[in-house]
Amino acid sequence: MPDLPRDWNQWREQIDLDRYDERWRRMAAAGGNPHGEADLIESYQPASVLDGGCGTGRVGVELARRGIAVLGVDADAAMIAAAQAKAPDLEWVAVDLAELERPERFDVVALAGNVVPYVAAGRRGDAVAACARHLRPGGRLIAGFQLQDGWPTLADYDGWCTAAGLGLEDRFATWDREPYVGGAYAVSVHRL
Ligand SMILES: C[S@@+](CC[C@H](N)C(=O)[O-])C[C@H]1O[C@@H](n2cnc3c(N)ncnc32)[C@H](O)[C@@H]1O
Repeated sequence: MPDLPRDWNQWREQIDLDRYDERWRRMAAAGGNPHGEADLIESYQPASVLDGGCGTGRVGVELARRGIAVLGVDADAAMIAAAQAKAPDLEWVAVDLAELERPERFDVVALAGNVVPYVAAGRRGDAVAACARHLRPGGRLIAGFQLQDGWPTLADYDGWCTAAGLGLEDRFATWDREPYVGGAYAVSVHRL
């Protein structure tokens, strides 16, 4: 996979939101499964999911369609507005994950699609800690992100999770549960 833009501002300069959603529509039209993340998250049978860094709502909307209570949060107000337009009946909140303070506790907090590396460096540990604080006892933090130069390593991420009281339960190479044997992408499941 080619290197992705290093930081979120660079990413946003390169793409408009319609094109972002179009990529997934094309994948579905070509017979691919655009809902691998939702499939894996649903396999843990959560009643509630916090979709952290929800973007335009791609994962959260699908989980809600499957009957799961979803709250979507994202630091980018334009992404939240796009999600809101797509699914006005769901709750979408524009907030930095590192500063998240909600009364609810969730069975799963999901960080799909490179959210962890796109959180500003220096804020990632705080963001993971905030995600952990919003889990029910026994709840899971599920995050998938690419491993590339200059981005967090799995050791970095595991360190933030350990500091937040989470233990590694599973690690996959894909959202289809292929075993992780090293490689440029990992899906990590940590548990409170
Ligand atoms: C590549 S997009 C993934 C969006 C969505 N999860 C998906 O899979 O389609 C990464 C998202 O992380 C969000 N993000 C980056 N830093 C964040 C932060 N500190 N707090 C909340 N969201 C953040 C961005 O605004 C962006 O929507």
